[in-house]
Amino acid sequence: MEHVIKNETMQKKVCELLNVLLANEYVLYTKLRNFHWNVVGPHFQDYHKFFEETYNKVEEDIDETAERIRTLNQRPLSSMKEFLEHSTLKESTQAQMSASDMLSELSQDYEHLIIAFNENISKCDEIGDIGTEDFLTGMMQEYEKKLWMIKSMNS
Ligand SMILES: [Fe+2]
Repeated sequence: MEHVIKNETMQKKVCELLNVLLANEYVLYTKLRNFHWNVVGPHFQDYHKFFEETYNKVEEDIDETAERIRTLNQRPLSSMKEFLEHSTLKESTQAQMSASDMLSELSQDYEHLIIAFNENISKCDEIGDIGTEDFLTGMMQEYEKKLWMIKSMNS
């Protein structure tokens, strides 16, 4: 039988991790929009579409993550100010970037997120929240697959 989160302290611990993930997803979402709008070059159409597909997926992840936090009776971060304060990803502020530079930056971000997923999955295991552990494991697999695609486009 699946472990049940027994008390509020455990839920709060898990949601601290989930709120950092949520903040990171928001920064990633905004970055992908930025790249979708600003990419230039002979393969514009491919990149433009790829970034759109990717931010649409991240938008779903944002909602799933926030609702997982609500499921655990906690409050998701809900303002841009809070997202920027809690995110461990950096915003992209460079005015002119090549498509290749955009893909390199995304590779680094996805690698950062996958490392964080691994750490957080272990922490959820220690805490005994098997539901969130499974939630994060499923999401991590999608990020691993996307990282493969990003790297393949940039090699
Ligand atoms: Fe668009």
